[in-house]
Amino acid sequence: MGRRPAAVATYCGVCALSVCAAAVGGADPAGVHPEQWPQVRSARPADPQLEARIAALLAHMTLEQKVGQLIQADIGSITPEDLRHYPLGSILNGGDSAPRNDKLAAPSEWLALADRFYDAAVGGPASAGLQPLWGTDAVHGDNNVPGATIFPHNIGLGAAHDSELVRRIGAITALEVRVTGLDWAFAPTVAVARDVRWGRTYESYSEDPQLVRKYAAAMVTGLQGAAGTPRFLDATHVLATPKHFLGDGGTAGIDQGDNRASEQALRDLDSPGYVAAIAAGAQTVMASYSSWQGLKMHGNRALLTLVLKGRMGFDGLALGDWDAHAQLPECTRASCASALNAGIDVLMAPRSWRELFDNTLRQVQAGEIPAARLDDAVRRVLRVKLRAHLDQEGRPSSRPFAGHFALLGSPEHRALARAAVRESLVLLKNRNHLLPLSPRLHVLVAGDAADSLARQSGGWTIDWQGTEPNAAFPHGETIFAAIQHCVSAAGGSATLSPAGEFHPRPDVAIVVFGEHPYAEFKGDVPTLEYSPGDKRDLALLRHLRAADVPVVALFVSGRPLSVNAELNAADAFVAVWLPGLEGGGIADVLFRTAEGRVRYDFRGRLSFSWPSSPRPPAVDGQPGEPPLFPLGYGLRYRDPGDLRQLPES
Ligand code: BGC
Ligand code: BGC
Repeated sequence: MGRRPAAVATYCGVCALSVCAAAVGGADPAGVHPEQWPQVRSARPADPQLEARIAALLAHMTLEQKVGQLIQADIGSITPEDLRHYPLGSILNGGDSAPRNDKLAAPSEWLALADRFYDAAVGGPASAGLQPLWGTDAVHGDNNVPGATIFPHNIGLGAAHDSELVRRIGAITALEVRVTGLDWAFAPTVAVARDVRWGRTYESYSEDPQLVRKYAAAMVTGLQGAAGTPRFLDATHVLATPKHFLGDGGTAGIDQGDNRASEQALRDLDSPGYVAAIAAGAQTVMASYSSWQGLKMHGNRALLTLVLKGRMGFDGLALGDWDAHAQLPECTRASCASALNAGIDVLMAPRSWRELFDNTLRQVQAGEIPAARLDDAVRRVLRVKLRAHLDQEGRPSSRPFAGHFALLGSPEHRALARAAVRESLVLLKNRNHLLPLSPRLHVLVAGDAADSLARQSGGWTIDWQGTEPNAAFPHGETIFAAIQHCVSAAGGSATLSPAGEFHPRPDVAIVVFGEHPYAEFKGDVPTLEYSPGDKRDLALLRHLRAADVPVVALFVSGRPLSVNAELNAADAFVAVWLPGLEGGGIADVLFRTAEGRVRYDFRGRLSFSWPSSPRPPAVDGQPGEPPLFPLGYGLRYRDPGDLRQLPES
């Protein structure tokens, strides 16, 4: 394993000695060869003035204040008052956490709570001169806040193949996060999902690393502003967090599982999103729950410290995931020196933050966590805070755009979300050119997902698993409502009957069905067969066809699934993914104008291979079934859309 390259040598000039020693001599014990990984040319040259300010801050910090910077608590378990005594460097709201523990708390309550945390932090003895950061899972818009614009989940954006769209979505998401006074989005997920049985597939843009690479740069630029310009992390932007480092998409469909790829495959398939995100100025990276070759990522010093921070030159902070450190064999939620020593800078300890603080302090005092590692981690946190101008920002509510609640779900923002929906739809079948439809028809809208904002939005929407009723959303248009709006304006009609009952016979039926919301491990499935235990949707499609009603199937899902029987039973079939709140984007494409013009053609192309059977398709040279529709597939209106009869086993 060749000699240590110059970049690592330079990095070692400013890093903890323990790191430098390990970098010498090629292969790390974990079987990693840092010199074979890409070097990143960052848009941010080293800034001696910034480093001097960090050093000055560090010099005045107590050990307690330093340790506090390394710990992140959840707002469900920490009060502003606690911050007067515990100098934590950051807080988060998990997917189920909200002000007053009320998921429907108004946006103004988020901002008021941000002020209370700020006041407590800067007023108390705990302050290290910089207030805490507040991070949130703004993964498809500012999705925890009722009223925010909700964009399609990443899988749909992948099908749009439009980086500029993704950048604009990032910019609007950042602005909406700013309205409620928060600083930090735990996005984008840059996982390259290669087995769609994984419950987080919809958080992945694509199985194609090159598409993920482009989108990672676009989303980081949208959220943070363009690195190297005055807009970077200004008052309209927030910190971005490419996640989950590294290899979460390669765990054979098992959330938090083990990625068995070779080092080369891990590098070539899983890392391009990070390389691009860091080059675009990403300031924080979240580590993965998953393992690589049996070793949990939170303990993988070679990948976190030598590759990410060394070779890739990442000088921001590496954040742990929700209690993920507790999965290291030697750790608990409340104690984990080894994750910090491996290179995690901030441990996400939602509930156990207090005990973790006490234990970490003891471990630093006992030398279990070397002073140099502590200082390196704190420097990284301070660097991110200063780059985010936290020293110049006053109370959250005093910042530009804070409290401008009309920006949440503003007509302009929702228009972009609607455009994103239009671009994300993938037409898989269109027999006899059934689509586009005339808006003068009498349309039956069926299927149990036709009138549900939660179904069309998926997980990470208001709450973690995405289970809120329509009434929880201050605005949004269900797919049925959008169809009804479109046809009634043109002289047609739309009737909703989830079970597909009708009288008299409609001109056409649009059946909206698919997966129910899920997030993370709750969405792992053992087979790609759609709805193995319940064939009611298939029966509904067949029932309508048997009654001579032409059938358009709209498949709502977080991943492609084996739907041969449903494809056979429908005349037209559209993958709509998880479009979010703007059902109007679907009606825009399905219906002509009253004058008969095509309003919008389909533009989406698959960013994931579509399975031909319940077994996963071959992806990236791995063994597997041939796909039914390959990457890049997607019909236009002019294309012949008939599909041969597919095998149903
Ligand atoms: C997820 C992360 C998320 C974090 C905070 C974890 O369970 O893996 O993606 O950012 O929770 O909600
Ligand atoms: C939180 C999520 C988190 C998950 C981890 C949930 O309770 O709301 O944010 O990702 O736990 O398992």
